[in-house]
Amino acid sequence: MMIQRAAMAALLLGVSAYAVSAEVMAPTTPPDAPKFDAQGEPVFVNRADVAEFKALPSYNEPAWVKAFVDAGKLPPVAERLPKEPMVYKTANMPDGNGVYGDVMRHVIGGRPEGWNFWAGQSYGWGGIDIALVECLTRTGPLFQINAADLTPMPNLAKSWEWSEDGKTLTVHLVEGAKWSDGAPFTTADTEFYFNDVVMDENVTPLMGASAATYADGVYANVDDFTFTLTFPTAFPESVLYNMAYGNFCPGPSHVLKPQHPKYGGKDYDSFQKAFPADYMNFPVMGGWTVVEHRPDDVVVLRRNPYYWKVDEAGNQLPYLDEMQYRLSTWGDRDVQAVAGTGDFSNLEQAENYVEALKKAADPASPAKLAFGPRTIGYTLYPNLSGNGWGEPSAEGQAIRELNRSLDFRKAISYGMDRQRLGDSLVKGPFTVPYPGGLYAGTSYYDKDSTVFYPYDAASAKASLEAAGLTDSDGDGFVNVAGGANLNVTLLTQSDYTTDKNLAEGVVAMMGEIGLKVTLSALTGKDFDNARDAGKYDWIIIRNGTELITVVQNTTALAPTGPSVDVNHRANGTGELDLLDHEKAMVDIVNKFIGSRDAAERSDLMKQYQKVYTENLDGIGLTAYPGALIVNKRFANIPAGAPIFMYNWAEDNIIRERVFVPADKQIGAELHPNTLPGEPGSKGPVSVE
Ligand code: GLA
Ligand code: CA
Repeated sequence: MMIQRAAMAALLLGVSAYAVSAEVMAPTTPPDAPKFDAQGEPVFVNRADVAEFKALPSYNEPAWVKAFVDAGKLPPVAERLPKEPMVYKTANMPDGNGVYGDVMRHVIGGRPEGWNFWAGQSYGWGGIDIALVECLTRTGPLFQINAADLTPMPNLAKSWEWSEDGKTLTVHLVEGAKWSDGAPFTTADTEFYFNDVVMDENVTPLMGASAATYADGVYANVDDFTFTLTFPTAFPESVLYNMAYGNFCPGPSHVLKPQHPKYGGKDYDSFQKAFPADYMNFPVMGGWTVVEHRPDDVVVLRRNPYYWKVDEAGNQLPYLDEMQYRLSTWGDRDVQAVAGTGDFSNLEQAENYVEALKKAADPASPAKLAFGPRTIGYTLYPNLSGNGWGEPSAEGQAIRELNRSLDFRKAISYGMDRQRLGDSLVKGPFTVPYPGGLYAGTSYYDKDSTVFYPYDAASAKASLEAAGLTDSDGDGFVNVAGGANLNVTLLTQSDYTTDKNLAEGVVAMMGEIGLKVTLSALTGKDFDNARDAGKYDWIIIRNGTELITVVQNTTALAPTGPSVDVNHRANGTGELDLLDHEKAMVDIVNKFIGSRDAAERSDLMKQYQKVYTENLDGIGLTAYPGALIVNKRFANIPAGAPIFMYNWAEDNIIRERVFVPADKQIGAELHPNTLPGEPGSKGPVSVE
């Protein structure tokens, strides 16, 4: 099959030895970014300054929750909490211990597909999943942790230790924590996640965790609250980062397991669909539980009465009784946040910056807007699988072969006027031409290791020719040898104006160098499915955390496993046909994961950056800063919280300790004085 495809591709391309006539200019280093200071520096602390696990003499809850206890409908708060709950320290709270009540009104562009996150269902993003699932470790708040103490924060895993040889990691779960329906949280849940979600080839969790994500560790339970992972290599510390959102966030095995085919469930498809979006009160470990879903209108979450975190005064968290998610568009999130009808936005679509800045500058503005570092970046990824991933047609396969040629990738980069592309989104000191790879301004970035093929139309055309492409029929577009114009399909996510604008810019610029590109714009889950199934020639991606932090989601920096890399995955038989530069990247990333020596790690990332950018593993487009917009009535929003770093701001700001002072509460709860009902029952319940 593979041979046939390659032969067909060669035919289509009419590969021949072209004499390269025109000169290709030499690469440079990237231009420096315009100065743009982040507004608000984090207060740097150690992890232990944020929280600890300990028993307190007594605990409190909202009076209306106590009424459920008094009515015999809920055990007393002390019995609902773990033996040693997580205690957030007052000194680390920007505004101190909070008060109960009020709601955070989010607006999102996604839609919940269903609640089986572990079988790949999306909740609609914008922080719904971050509010519902909790993970063994936590990394969002690391933006404020001192460099010397930089390692994931404990969460459902309250502690862990490595064996002397570094090959066994022992993890201790918080003892006696409960799911939002009161069922115990134990290693039955972590075991189910590991063995029946990650290790079951028929189940693809939303964030795509696989054996490689956990360094090929083997899972074993020790007791109800302790498990071990045993690895073939020593000290794969990246595993601790991959225990944070959105991977090792176990699901409720007491409701998931009976639906899993291995334990009597009908089949994998039924397992995935067992908890559709109209299934209410799905058990969670997060601070809030979904109690209402009106399609295309709103999702409402109410406080989880079993939440396992408290403040130093013993107040059970969260402080906010309700979370709302208006189902609208991402652009509307910005508009509503600055207008004060919504409470929160990650201002990340550069087209909205000028208007949002203008509105927020008004002292009477209901919302506070604060820019952070330049961590929003977009890359064009050519599909580098030549192995049949995504089952391309013969034409598609021919494009894969071109994608695998460095001359062709150089043509794309030389053809990309990144300055113009950035300016088309927003003028001013925001965007910077981005060569690809690690972002300028981040800790592992090294400018001198960054190779930049800048905009130069003549070099782009010469590179196309070097890749064997000429305009044989003289209509201005290069042809497939002896045939029609080459036509590359560019996949983009159409829920975001920015993604679409960038894609349209790419189509226009490629047209200018004689390369015909056609846009395929898909929404939400259709885009995700096409991306993950490899059904594209080129794709535009808003990049993940690994290119910012390196330590979070490290395995995704290269095709380190069959399905971890965005633009190169294995075919049906598990085969990866890595290019030489990809092999080098895999090697560097694996060495990085295996190294505990800071100097060596920094050197390895210089090598990574060189190999990535010199070979154009992806073609960077533009990078710019995002701004966090939060309504001014909220307290405990940490200074300098970036909208995106180790995770999104919805995690970074630690929403379970965010509160609204009593005199500022707006009375906007949709289901006041109610708690989540039984899993699968209709909705929230009140005390009567
Ligand atoms: C979407 C949004 C981001 C952020 C994340 C959270 O991707 O675009 O701003 O809210 O969801 O998962
Ligand atoms: Ca032509």
